[in-house]
Amino acid sequence: MCGIVAAVAQRQVAPILLEGLSRLEYRGYDSCGLCTVNQHEFTCLKTVEKVTALKAMVQKQGCPGTTGIAHTRWATHGEPSVTNAHPHIIGDLALVHNGIIENFAELKNALIAEGYEFKSQTDTEVLLAEIHFLAVKKGLPLKTAFAKALRNVKGSYAIALVDRKNPETLLCARQGSPFVIGLGIEENFVASDVLALLPVTHRFIYPEEGSIAEITVSSVKVFDLNLNERKTEICESDLDAESISKGKYRHFMQKEIFEQPQALEHTSLGRICDGTVDLSSVRGFTADFLKNIENIKIVACGTSYHAGLVGKYWFEELAGISSSVEIASEYRYRKAVVKPHSLFITISQSGETADTLASLRLAQNQGYEASLCICNVAASSLVRESDYAMLTRAGAEIGVASTKAFTTQLLCLLLLSTYLGTVQKKINDTQCNEICNAISELPNAASEVLECDHRIALLAERFAGKHHCLFLGRGIMYPIALEGALKLKEISYIHAEGYAAGELKHGPIALIDENMPVVVVAPDNELLGKLESNIEEVRARGGKLFVFSQGKTNLKSDSQTEIIALPASNPVLHPILFTLPLQLLAYYCALINGTDVDQPRNLAKSVTVE
Ligand code: AGP
Repeated sequence: MCGIVAAVAQRQVAPILLEGLSRLEYRGYDSCGLCTVNQHEFTCLKTVEKVTALKAMVQKQGCPGTTGIAHTRWATHGEPSVTNAHPHIIGDLALVHNGIIENFAELKNALIAEGYEFKSQTDTEVLLAEIHFLAVKKGLPLKTAFAKALRNVKGSYAIALVDRKNPETLLCARQGSPFVIGLGIEENFVASDVLALLPVTHRFIYPEEGSIAEITVSSVKVFDLNLNERKTEICESDLDAESISKGKYRHFMQKEIFEQPQALEHTSLGRICDGTVDLSSVRGFTADFLKNIENIKIVACGTSYHAGLVGKYWFEELAGISSSVEIASEYRYRKAVVKPHSLFITISQSGETADTLASLRLAQNQGYEASLCICNVAASSLVRESDYAMLTRAGAEIGVASTKAFTTQLLCLLLLSTYLGTVQKKINDTQCNEICNAISELPNAASEVLECDHRIALLAERFAGKHHCLFLGRGIMYPIALEGALKLKEISYIHAEGYAAGELKHGPIALIDENMPVVVVAPDNELLGKLESNIEEVRARGGKLFVFSQGKTNLKSDSQTEIIALPASNPVLHPILFTLPLQLLAYYCALINGTDVDQPRNLAKSVTVE
């Protein structure tokens, strides 16, 4: 979603702001802008093009100043346009904002009655006008007006404000949207995430929800919304600036697909010990970690939700724990009945997804035994607010399409369900040993599967010109079919749906014809025979089939059916390993369709508004 960067320094800040914006591009945006202050004058440049266009504008027109704020906007209120792009300026004040002001209409009417006129359709300009009204018309000191305005608004925000009369101070705040403060030497910064600031600092403060920060070149003070000062902790980031370079790859998504063997190795590092699962690295772990759990509720969005669906199969099969999975945007608005001894699990790459976070906060008052998150970002709100946190350790994921975050989430779920299976004595030592051995072989098995890269690139050509596609799977592979369909639609814009293969004849079979490719995930498992019957149903109706199998299938390749054989593997690894070719298929289809692979239209990496 929107990204903010702000800097107060003794050097020119435009290059820092622009570099920061480039590093936030992955979050998804439709316009961008920056504003600097020089000799008490603003220079404000905005565009509905990419950050490179903004860089060109800065080069041509200049953007002097040692204090500045910058923004990538993902439209919520008002179309993507230069007028709606941030920063917004009223009088001496300029503001950038990530989030949504829910009571903006009410505030706007009151401000119009006070004589304010609005140029844009944004909720952000209303928030700025509210601050301006309290500071200029009501005569409050700016910091007091800023805090009072924030107490008057409902919604979520991460904001940075600069006053051209006093450009030595940046005022920032967060509620429901993320931001970090980066500490430099005689210069300080703010950004939506650490990746934006890695070229200038590795020292960060992560302000809590409902924080206001007053930042100058030499000081950072953090307050609550009533301006009581809060203690802060400085954290060192071990990410390096290079972690967000594409290296030898054409796209981040491609790089991240091929990073999976290594990422999976990191996920299991120290978590497999002498044939057993060791989860002492989970934050909050104690000797009787999750001993009394009898039910599990998993809540997540998008790809992370699909990981949760796979997790349900494992929790029930390996640990005998009744589990259910829900989409966070649904869970947060219904009255859930919580069974005794229930564990609440959230899954999220970013740890900042608004609906997932809201569900966690709701669950904290619903009588769950504990909350556990599976997350890729150690400093995220989800990690900080959950009782237990299991990090996926996938490394920074930049491509909007989640790849290595998904497979490492799956591995965390497998580790967790195996651990619970042993604690609850549902699996014996031999079974646990076998799963641990399979997990140890996973990085190599993943590398072997990725060798199908060239084959999939050729296969993708068969999807050229297709507008619809079905993905089928059964049992634990059904969520993988859903994930394959999501990957294909989000980056290639081919309409794709995932179905439980047994459900085909209850409706979707009506769609089958030669123009509707049907992708099937068909590993060697106990449901293969059933799946083959479903495949025959598609063949009988002239459908074109692409079957990912492991060679044991009775099906043969012919003009209607293409069998893509993957190496044999332990069944417990099937969901992870069969995901890889589907990611590659989506990637190559996107290349053929000429879409923006890493930043597909309308999508944001981290969905920080509901
Ligand atoms: C995945 O490819 C998507 N871009 C999206 O569905 C994503 O998984 C979803 O927005 C949830 O994000 P999170 O994992 O950061 O919570």
